[in-house]
Amino acid sequence: MTAVALYATSLTCRLTGRHTSGRALGLLGLTAVGVGGTLGGHLAYRQASGANHAEEVPHVVAEGWHRIGNVDEFPAERAVRRTVDDVPVLVVRETGGTVHALADRCSHLAGPLSEGTIADGCVQCFWHGSVFRLSDGWNVRGPATAPQPAFDTRITDGHVEIRLRQDDRAEDADNSRKSERQPGAEKGGVPHRSSGRHA
Ligand code: FES
Repeated sequence: MTAVALYATSLTCRLTGRHTSGRALGLLGLTAVGVGGTLGGHLAYRQASGANHAEEVPHVVAEGWHRIGNVDEFPAERAVRRTVDDVPVLVVRETGGTVHALADRCSHLAGPLSEGTIADGCVQCFWHGSVFRLSDGWNVRGPATAPQPAFDTRITDGHVEIRLRQDDRAEDADNSRKSERQPGAEKGGVPHRSSGRHA
């Protein structure tokens, strides 16, 4: 924004005949672009701040349902870690029976959510305190800026099965997440795909 303002002012000066001021402001605009790019590059590529550390999940997990264990392997309201296609997954079964599954590596800096705190329908990462809604992975509180990839779940013949939520495969996942989701019947089991409630 600073650079744009400087260039706009520079243009105004040049159009009104103040060429020296215009050149100076243009130079300042170029400096602002350089400083911004350097800072942004350092933060993103050296310190990994703001990067989404769960971005690869939709590209790694194979399509379809994955069986991850018997229902009784998931104590109610307890975080359990499972792995699907080498992707760690946090699984939480509610007392009422609904099962939630999110990518386990925190989108902030890849902390293990399965070692976090479960409360009020959310999980809090114990590394830096980001809070994610269990029903859809929405980042309720930062520092994480991206939601967690979420899985649909179902129970078939006493086994818990999960499938990467289709919205998380789409390029416009963020926009799709904001739209209203409708539960759908699936052959072989009833998937849980709650729209979640705001914390
Ligand atoms: S790694 Fe989870 S909040 Fe930082």
